[in-house]
Amino acid sequence: MSSFVRRALRATRDAVLGRGSVPVLSQIIRRDPRSTTFFAALDYINYERVPGDVVEFGVFTGLSLAEFAAGDSFDNKGMTRRFVGFDSFEGLPPSAIEHARWVPSDCAINHSWHPLIPIGAPVSADVTRNLFAACGLPEPALHIGQFDQTIAKVIPSVYSSIALVHFDCDLYESTRDALALASPAFQDGVMLMFDDWFHYRGHPNKGQSRAFDEFLTQHPEWVPQQYRSYSTFCNSFILSRRDV
Ligand SMILES: C[S@@+](CC[C@H](N)C(=O)[O-])C[C@H]1O[C@@H](n2cnc3c(N)ncnc32)[C@H](O)[C@@H]1O
Repeated sequence: MSSFVRRALRATRDAVLGRGSVPVLSQIIRRDPRSTTFFAALDYINYERVPGDVVEFGVFTGLSLAEFAAGDSFDNKGMTRRFVGFDSFEGLPPSAIEHARWVPSDCAINHSWHPLIPIGAPVSADVTRNLFAACGLPEPALHIGQFDQTIAKVIPSVYSSIALVHFDCDLYESTRDALALASPAFQDGVMLMFDDWFHYRGHPNKGQSRAFDEFLTQHPEWVPQQYRSYSTFCNSFILSRRDV
């Protein structure tokens, strides 16, 4: 969809509903059991003045990235942040570790409720751009491709400080790569949110739990403290620098 059409959609929404009325966003927030923790995490980084951007690995149709951007706009406590997403938009890559449900290419087509596209529709970066427009949010920065091809091109050169990361990329290998390549920009007090922590039947040596454990062994400069487990599969941690 062109930027002209997006602007027209925004203008129509504003004319019909009035500025500031955001029903699409309300629907997303009410349907997502993770939203209260997303907003609490934003409150934490804003209150504690943890500097830097909010970065998501695994954007899919943009729902969670839109919630982060919207949550921050409610009350950012004077902190300025960019909202940045990384995704191939081609679905899950292969993994050496088998999961009970997931197979390669899962998430290349939409599989669940979305305010703009039906189940079965192809997923692309434009789905997320259109969602942000429909929510009245500024366009996010999207980096398209496999993590091991995209992240090092912009972190830390473009995004030198990161305050919050949402790892919603399901797999051990994807989370391992995202942690390794994003960590040069982590700030003291960075919030790390793992959407898929308790998948693989909660096995501590599989999936995101394994990736984070290995990261901490390789990076003794970071001290983890659990923040919250939330929804069905998610867990979150704050990292403090040992020397601060
Ligand atoms: C479960 S979806 C993300 C859901 C989204 N955050 C939400 O809450 O609506 C997982 C996404 O991670 C992406 N992904 C997983 N591993 C990746 C990798 N190594 N490189 C790029 N994208 C990856 C997939 O393409 C998929 O879109």
